[in-house]
Amino acid sequence: MEDRRVVVVTGGSRGIGRAIALKFAEENAHIIIFHYDPDESASSETLNLLKEKGIEAKSFKVDVSDKKAVDSVFEKIFSEYKRVDVLINNAGITKDKLLIRMDENDWDIVLNVNLKGVYNCTHAVLRNMIKQRRGWIVNIASIVGQIGNAGQANYAASKAGIMGFTKSVAKEVAGRGIMVNAVAPGFIDTEMTAKLPDKVKEEFLKQIPIGRLGDPEEVAEVVYWLCSEGASYVTGQVIHVNGGMYM
Ligand SMILES: NC(=O)c1ccc[n+]([C@@H]2O[C@H](COP(=O)([O-])OP(=O)(O)OC[C@H]3O[C@@H](n4cnc5c(N)ncnc54)[C@H](O)[C@@H]3O)[C@@H](O)[C@H]2O)c1
Repeated sequence: MEDRRVVVVTGGSRGIGRAIALKFAEENAHIIIFHYDPDESASSETLNLLKEKGIEAKSFKVDVSDKKAVDSVFEKIFSEYKRVDVLINNAGITKDKLLIRMDENDWDIVLNVNLKGVYNCTHAVLRNMIKQRRGWIVNIASIVGQIGNAGQANYAASKAGIMGFTKSVAKEVAGRGIMVNAVAPGFIDTEMTAKLPDKVKEEFLKQIPIGRLGDPEEVAEVVYWLCSEGASYVTGQVIHVNGGMYM
């Protein structure tokens, strides 16, 4: 088997996903990012950053909540690379509202992207990983899936769902050499958190013992470790990366 791992990072155009893609560039992996931004500016920037590290990566604009679209992109990936070694399910969105004002659409879109998207991509790669008898899947959950957050019932439900999904799939495929884990970031400095009002940020900061937001690279380090030989006895876990905000 060719040495270079084939790595798919969903939501890889910016934020945490971009940092993860750049981390995998250090091992000279084949890198494929998915995004669903309105334009290609962020994804092109990521591709350029990867190019600076010597990686000719690929980018697909695909909505992870759309099973048919996801399957068709993975068909292209399999026809070119024959396999996927690493899947990082990182794509995620928020639609924050108190439940009393949260309509069905706010619920559906967040659950569809954040949770069904994880099912869609994992389902698309699992058969291939089972055949190879190796694979690494890391799902990006959130501290909010563990402790809840007012205004984020949809998001928290999707992220708690990811934790249950991770543990179940880990049990199904551990015997086939496939490791399935989740990383639950706390409050990380990305576009997702940039849109929060300053007052909300200040309140969050008071709850973080380390006293600052995390950097996307600090999440990427842990994701990468979970996909390394050093984590060869770690599966079905939710690893929290949150500056001590939840212990
Ligand atoms: N930033 C934080 O503080 C924080 C904390 C905990 C968990 N997370 C989780 O980490 C992940 C990345 O967050 P981020 O802060 O980097 O977000 P971001 O908003 O900076 O980036 C989101 C990425 O997901 C992609 N995306 C959105 N909808 C998509 C769809 N339907 N199909 C495919 N791709 C889609 C976007 O194109 C983009 O690449 C998310 O799952 C988020 O829930 C973030």
